[in-house]
Amino acid sequence: MKPIHNKIWQIALPYLKKGKKKDFVLHTSMVVKGMELLLKKEKGNKNILMPAAILHDTGWANVPICLQKAKDASRARKAMELHLQYSIPVNREILSNLGFANGEIKKIIDIILSHKFKNPRDLNKRLLIDADTLSDIFKEQFYSDARMYGLLPEEFYHVRKDNRFYTETAKDIFHAELNRRAKEIGIA
Ligand SMILES: [Fe+2]
Ligand SMILES: [Fe+2]
Repeated sequence: MKPIHNKIWQIALPYLKKGKKKDFVLHTSMVVKGMELLLKKEKGNKNILMPAAILHDTGWANVPICLQKAKDASRARKAMELHLQYSIPVNREILSNLGFANGEIKKIIDIILSHKFKNPRDLNKRLLIDADTLSDIFKEQFYSDARMYGLLPEEFYHVRKDNRFYTETAKDIFHAELNRRAKEIGIA
């Protein structure tokens, strides 16, 4: 990570630790890893996508815990909407304190706001969604999520195996990782 991205990560950490829906420190580190892998092959804008990856879930910090843990669909959706909405002021403050220009801040926030409920055409927006979905299959997050859902790794494999992506790069990385999980679980 570049020094500026490392700084953003340090500032984002307390917000990520406040989110309780899942382990957002682990999740975000996996999304960053996915983004770094995607950007080796895809033409996205690194200077806005790395901050977007690090900051995309900071909004969970301010979503009431009861909503974060809600199981019914309408409250879960409400929580999902709020994590987008609440991320705006948090991320605007973080980025402006670090000296990001208003135009860049607007682009980063716009990308973050498109990571749920949208089917964007813009490549940068698609890359954040792909990195977010890719995080599901990386080793640490896969087993951590399986435990959280109370499922055996083999059962959870079947939940994750149908993840969908925009870019060919994401599909390739996903299938390579999926094969690794299958071998670890002993179903390959
Ligand atoms: Fe999110
Ligand atoms: Fe996420």
